[in-house]
Amino acid sequence: MTDTVERLSRYRELVDDWPAFIESCRRPLPTVVWANPLRQRALLSLGSSGASDLSAGPDLSAGSDLLTATSILAERLGALSYSSRPVDWYPGALRVFGIDKPGKTLEFYQGLYHVQEEISLVPALLLDAQPGERVLDLCAAPGGKTAQIACHMENTGTLVANDIRPNRLRALRSNCERLGLLNVAVTSNDGTRFPLEVGQFDRVLLDVPCSCEGNVRQSGRIPFEQAGGVRGRAGLQATLLGRAWKLLSPGGVLVYSTCTFAPEENELVLDYVLGEDATIEPVEIEGLRASAGVTEWSGNSLRPDCRNVARFWPHLNDTGGFAAARIRKTEEAR
Ligand SMILES: C[S@@+](CC[C@H](N)C(=O)[O-])C[C@H]1O[C@@H](n2cnc3c(N)ncnc32)[C@H](O)[C@@H]1O
Repeated sequence: MTDTVERLSRYRELVDDWPAFIESCRRPLPTVVWANPLRQRALLSLGSSGASDLSAGPDLSAGSDLLTATSILAERLGALSYSSRPVDWYPGALRVFGIDKPGKTLEFYQGLYHVQEEISLVPALLLDAQPGERVLDLCAAPGGKTAQIACHMENTGTLVANDIRPNRLRALRSNCERLGLLNVAVTSNDGTRFPLEVGQFDRVLLDVPCSCEGNVRQSGRIPFEQAGGVRGRAGLQATLLGRAWKLLSPGGVLVYSTCTFAPEENELVLDYVLGEDATIEPVEIEGLRASAGVTEWSGNSLRPDCRNVARFWPHLNDTGGFAAARIRKTEEAR
């Protein structure tokens, strides 16, 4: 951990409470799951004993679906002796206590929930995909965010989930199958050359490969060597963003996200690639604390709307580290 603290010290001036930040980096992450109303609905309509025994005639009318799925899930986990409490800022998510292997329960295999680090739920929320839309997830595997988006789209429209690595796409396909996702088309392209012939999309998620500094709580160290360092990734991130921007329709929304603290992989990439046809929009998520994005770094002044990049330091919400930006393309752009 000493090496890691030394590495992180380059961010000292960006962090409001350094001792709290370092202390939180030493702690393991809470376990978080989100309820899948699509699967719950399917199992209930089939009369599967797996879902119905604890449901006692839930009201599955529109609007109560997610609430019902979440409370059924909490009950099911309770019956397995795992207590849980809702994540205030993300409807359907639960923090679960005392569970060692959340990916090894019958409920998981039935697709009633998905396991995901809490802060990585943010990008899909910011993307706000709607039923019936055309959506692209350019770096999608193993598919946690794809799955969230498919649920937000209520299994309608088209969601293209792309990743360059076929072995990681196997995990994505298996997640789609387990969770009952029907609107996902899986492709394996280099995102920097994703075919423009496919046409433009209403929304694009670009959850780029990064140096993963924000995952420090998963292992107590930063997987620096494996990730190639903060500067090594910036070129690929910028090229991916350039292509993703071309694939976005006028008036559309692109969410750029990383699980890293480095401005080189966040604001500097946005500043380098985005032009006048882009606006980084302010984001506020009720119940979730964020700090402002960076507009000055290593002697560089960045575009002013970089302040709207939302930075989630681990101590702010007891999560991993993350950064996300919601960017809108002007109607006049091409
Ligand atoms: C941060 S991970 C994505 C996590 C995923 N969004 C999720 O929520 O499960 C980054 C992904 O980018 C993929 N990747 C790396 N280079 C790529 C490229 N040139 N084109 C497309 N995908 C790429 C990696 O294989 C990796 O799966």
